[in-house]
Amino acid sequence: MSEKNELGRENLCQAPVGVFDSGVGGLTVAREIMRNLPDEKIVYFGDTARLPYGNKSKDTVIRYSRQIIRFLKTQQVKAIVIACNTASALALEEVEKEFDIPILGVLKPGARVAASVTRNKKVGVIGTESTINSHMYDRFIQAQDPEISVYGKACPLFVSLVEEGWLKDPVTEEVARRYLDELMRQGIDSLILGCTHYPLLRSLVQKIVGEKVTLVNPAYETAKELERLLEREGMQNHAGKADPAEGYRFFVSDAADKFKNFANSILPYDIETTRKINIEEY
Ligand code: DGL
Repeated sequence: MSEKNELGRENLCQAPVGVFDSGVGGLTVAREIMRNLPDEKIVYFGDTARLPYGNKSKDTVIRYSRQIIRFLKTQQVKAIVIACNTASALALEEVEKEFDIPILGVLKPGARVAASVTRNKKVGVIGTESTINSHMYDRFIQAQDPEISVYGKACPLFVSLVEEGWLKDPVTEEVARRYLDELMRQGIDSLILGCTHYPLLRSLVQKIVGEKVTLVNPAYETAKELERLLEREGMQNHAGKADPAEGYRFFVSDAADKFKNFANSILPYDIETTRKINIEEY
């Protein structure tokens, strides 16, 4: 890339990574970046005023993603991670062409790992309706190996159950059994947790599908992919931090306090401030 994001080369390494999602779910991706790339700063945006994205049309999700990327660019980010599976499925191809900044989605990293771990070439994917109906996971997995069969299942209730905090509740278990039974009958040996919220249901899902099914967490794989991207582009931050929580900034489009409470329940560091912005201005 000839020019990087209006930032001088010297400042580039020190610049934050932009991460965005429809709301709180993308914090599972931010959390993996914090764990795996502790020297990187993060500017996170959660589109809490306009969620969910999981049942929205492609045009709408592209429009929202464009606005968010414009906002993140005002924060001088050096690269952007679309933490939302739905936005990665519906908008990444489009926005990649429009913006002069490296943009990473969560689907390809998850798909690549699923294709490498399956032994019987039967991979399950769970996600929102829009992600599953887009068949983008299928496309990326079959680009790795056309012989792999991909079985998708939309699990729309999972998002609400996670946001309610019912991670180990019998109601959630019953819902999960209904969703996952169908996939298990296909004989899958690996399963992609293809929605930001699902890594928080990991132990429940593992209990239902059994230890023989390998769960793939795109959030973790994306953090690893980000590491490779920053290395490749010479943009890693090696400066170190005096305080591990330094350099994390959070923005939302609504309900900043609710966001902050959820964030503090899942992130390794407490968030002090979350700022509300008007994303429609971008
Ligand atoms: N973040 C979305 C995803 O990963 C789930 C929540 C929503 O539907 O907005 O697909």
